[in-house]
Amino acid sequence: MKEIDFSLKAKMFDSVSELSQDEQNLMDKAIEARNNAYAPYSKFQVGASILLDNGVIVTGNNQENAAYPSGMCAERVAIWSAGAQYPNMIVKKIAITAASSEIEVKNPVGPCGACRQALYEYEFNQKEPIEIIFMGETGKIIKVTSLASLLPFSFDSSYL
Ligand code: THU
Repeated sequence: MKEIDFSLKAKMFDSVSELSQDEQNLMDKAIEARNNAYAPYSKFQVGASILLDNGVIVTGNNQENAAYPSGMCAERVAIWSAGAQYPNMIVKKIAITAASSEIEVKNPVGPCGACRQALYEYEFNQKEPIEIIFMGETGKIIKVTSLASLLPFSFDSSYL
């Protein structure tokens, strides 16, 4: 028997002002996207912004639907929009933020499992890590260096 250690190292910041200028700008775009989210059912608004290798920022927000499961998370709206508009472009970073009209979202909101998998597809293909920076509306900001670190024993096309 051999133990495998998947321990995760993350950076935690007290304020967006501690991020680099590029990252602050990326988070600003995520906040803008969050404010335009269509979340009339959950009232939980999420914004995501993606920095591409060419400097372009692509944003997305959650899009809900009266038929609840037909809705989509902000992160997948953003990554698929990037994939649709800039196929084969390297993704450098993604910033995510969430807020609610019902509660104060103080804890950093990481991407859900399905979004991690969808984002990982891009990281796996480009063979370059994608940084993920996420926060609530207020409070701490978390930064991790790759999707792989958020998905131990991840599934990818090499299994098919
Ligand atoms: N949501 C996201 O947009 N991203 C996540 O990673 C988690 C959840 C959305 C989906 C739904 O519109 C609302 O937040 C509540 O689950």
